[in-house]
Amino acid sequence: MADAARLAVVVGAAGGLGRALAERLVLDAAYDRVIALSRRRPQDWPDDARRSWFEADILDEGSLAAAAQAISALGAPTRIIVASGRLHGEGLLPEKSMRALNAEAMSALFAINAVGPSLVAKHLLPLTPRDAPSLFAALSARVGSIGDNHLGGWHSYRASKAALNMLVRTLAIEHRRTRPLGSCVVLHPGTVDTALSAPFHTGIPMDQRLSPNRSAAALLSVMDALGLDDNGGFFAWDAAPIPW
Ligand SMILES: NC(=O)c1ccc[n+]([C@@H]2O[C@H](COP(=O)([O-])OP(=O)(O)OC[C@H]3O[C@@H](n4cnc5c(N)ncnc54)[C@H](OP(=O)(O)O)[C@@H]3O)[C@@H](O)[C@H]2O)c1
Repeated sequence: MADAARLAVVVGAAGGLGRALAERLVLDAAYDRVIALSRRRPQDWPDDARRSWFEADILDEGSLAAAAQAISALGAPTRIIVASGRLHGEGLLPEKSMRALNAEAMSALFAINAVGPSLVAKHLLPLTPRDAPSLFAALSARVGSIGDNHLGGWHSYRASKAALNMLVRTLAIEHRRTRPLGSCVVLHPGTVDTALSAPFHTGIPMDQRLSPNRSAAALLSVMDALGLDDNGGFFAWDAAPIPW
């Protein structure tokens, strides 16, 4: 029987970083096919021999289960990247002080940034090969580091990413029991020029901002260089470990 196709899956592939990551993976000979998962089809993303798209909302388990079934018919994912996330939106603005805390907004950020990626893991990690290396990487944020929090503010986003970090660390331990060559990590992409960060660029010098393409290239290099001992770790786009 022919070997199973080597798949890379990018969740949130219509976003700034997700799209850049997906495009770079298409050029990577390590993968036979790149699968984009998102609520809306990424612009100009064709279905051809190297690319597929399946609709998935990370908060809708039915859609994740259907996507998992469609992916399993194509092969086995050896890289799964969760590039979805939210910082602001309708009714959602990063808090400047505790006076702005609001249960609904907090719950929405926790759902998208922490619960959703865990549900992606629940449905897609079982598709990874048992006897070959694989990597699950979720995009977190340095502001989710508790040890690195010297500024305060952005309470819900920070806390949702800290929760994501704990969830991925926990998944990493569990996943290793059945996938001795499988790893799960959280990554900080840098400050990247996307819709998510655009309203907060004031005051950040240009040389401290990355294009989605540059960040994606750096993140993929970090992923390629990770070893088995890095399972459950939290790393920045420049490969430096970040304190929890
Ligand atoms: N940009 C930065 O400076 C920066 C810094 C640190 C960390 N990060 C993290 O990097 C990741 C990617 O961010 P980005 O900058 O690329 O932001 P982005 O361009 O806004 O992309 C985020 C994507 O997440 C998707 N998404 C949100 N809720 C979803 C859901 N329920 N189901 C499926 N997809 C959903 C969005 O889809 P829709 O377009 O359909 O809403 C959007 O495509 C995020 O986790 C973010 O927190 C970014």
